[in-house]
Amino acid sequence: MAETRMNSRMGKTLPDVAAWPHPLVDGAVRLIETLGAGRVNVDTYQARVMALFADTALRTQLAQWIERTLSERADQILVRRSLPGRDYTLQLLYLQAGEIHPPHCHHNVTSTQVLLHGAGWFREYERIARIDARRIRLLPVRDRCLQAGDVMQSSEFVRNAHWFGAGEHPAVILNFNIRGYERDTFDPPARLGRRLLDPTRGDPDGAHVIAAEIDTASAYDRFATRPLQDFPLPVPLAPAAEPLRLDLG
Ligand SMILES: [Fe+2]
Repeated sequence: MAETRMNSRMGKTLPDVAAWPHPLVDGAVRLIETLGAGRVNVDTYQARVMALFADTALRTQLAQWIERTLSERADQILVRRSLPGRDYTLQLLYLQAGEIHPPHCHHNVTSTQVLLHGAGWFREYERIARIDARRIRLLPVRDRCLQAGDVMQSSEFVRNAHWFGAGEHPAVILNFNIRGYERDTFDPPARLGRRLLDPTRGDPDGAHVIAAEIDTASAYDRFATRPLQDFPLPVPLAPAAEPLRLDLG
């Protein structure tokens, strides 16, 4: 197993990175501005992000970046910008062999992630309701192998929680995340970003996961050193829409 990497940003503001001059980045920034100005809702925005990615031939257009991510074994930022109460990032994430992003949900993060290279596994959950200050009721909707072209899309009220990791080889994920752009949120206003979870317990109702919010160190101790398939789902997977996929071109 690879050395455990802490890959959670945990609300930190990071320095701006000037935009890579490319129609993909221009298009992404235009979509963010459209959402930020309230001209589209989140679902339309997410659909337009998928359309932009589908029109881009990502493997070809990002070939130099994929190569650089793998050779430098480091994330590559195509654009990153902080604004008052908001920020956005389009980046390639490097996942070393066996690296896990432990289970988490998000506060006011709208994201699309595309596996560009490698393979892995992912689980996605709908966030159903808050039970109390430390527990959330989840519905598992996807639990499957992650292959190049597979997409994880997450927003405040759609598949807000997930858990994913690379397989035996390094992987590269295109990660497009914007934070602070949703007007309605599941929880009251709070720090933007990840909330780490332990989703290994089922509700006696047999349908839902009772996920406990846990601190970052516990989450990494518990979940970052083992493949997620080692943890059986405590309740059956709910029927869900077909997984999102892109032809990478
Ligand atoms: Fe996430």
